[in-house]
Amino acid sequence: MSRTVYLNGEWLDEADAKISIFDRGYTFADAIYEVTAVVGGKLIDYHGHAARLQRSLGELGMKCPYEGEDLLAIHREIVARNNIEEGMIYLQISRGVDDRDFIMPDKPVPTFSMFTQTKKVLENPYAKSGISVISLPDWRWERRDIKTVQLLYPTWAKTQAHQQGADDAWLIEEGLVTEASSATAHIVKKDGTLVTRDLSHVILPGITRASTLDLAREAGIKVEERPFTLDEAKQAAEAFNTSATNFVLPVVNIDGEQIGDGTPGPITRKLREIYVKSRLATAI
Ligand code: PDD
Repeated sequence: MSRTVYLNGEWLDEADAKISIFDRGYTFADAIYEVTAVVGGKLIDYHGHAARLQRSLGELGMKCPYEGEDLLAIHREIVARNNIEEGMIYLQISRGVDDRDFIMPDKPVPTFSMFTQTKKVLENPYAKSGISVISLPDWRWERRDIKTVQLLYPTWAKTQAHQQGADDAWLIEEGLVTEASSATAHIVKKDGTLVTRDLSHVILPGITRASTLDLAREAGIKVEERPFTLDEAKQAAEAFNTSATNFVLPVVNIDGEQIGDGTPGPITRKLREIYVKSRLATAI
């Protein structure tokens, strides 16, 4: 079924939405994006995603053509026009169309696009089975805190994982886990402490990460925000990813080594359950 998408202020059939080959998003990956989950036709963690969008733009000296209630209204309208019950909204803003020039234009006119994708986010079979990951070097640029569309390496890493019979890759830098190819990586120590990398330029400040850590603390789970090694991850009792589209997703195998008993652990399952419950209650 053909979708209705949003491009530079217009609602269009997806086949009619065209972007110039001179767009800097296309020639230089000079663009940022956001992914927001939709459940029951409502937006999950919208305010976190909207705030991170503004931050990404600010770090790159770009501006969003829509803000506040206007931006929220476009999100709501795209869900309604496409009748999305469960899935996600993809939003991208590039520095717009210009002759190919490495120097960024002084007065860019951004290209703003949005589309929806349906996906069963609640009934995810991997939430029950858990996923396997392989470790790969983190060869991305060092400003991973900005959500740019430079996704060649993450797509390459995830493809490598699939070719090796795994589901995803955890990326390693100087022996330390940074994050998964498109999710935040977490472990649970044998004493029940949740460990996740502290925020810095080397990881994306995950919106699901922030909510999950808040909920974990509220549930009395001890949280340590610090780097952890691949070896520590392999020795952990549990491991999991968080992201907008997969929520809390158990990781049960790293590099062929089983984590815990090889099934989703109790803390991971509990966090998924409380994450889903609280996000459904706060969805807008
Ligand atoms: N990716 N780290 C990376 C590198 C990511 O690409 C993502 C999300 C996350 C988790 O962030 P959040 O919880 O805000 O979704 C962490 C999205 C889902 C994607 O690219 O599809």
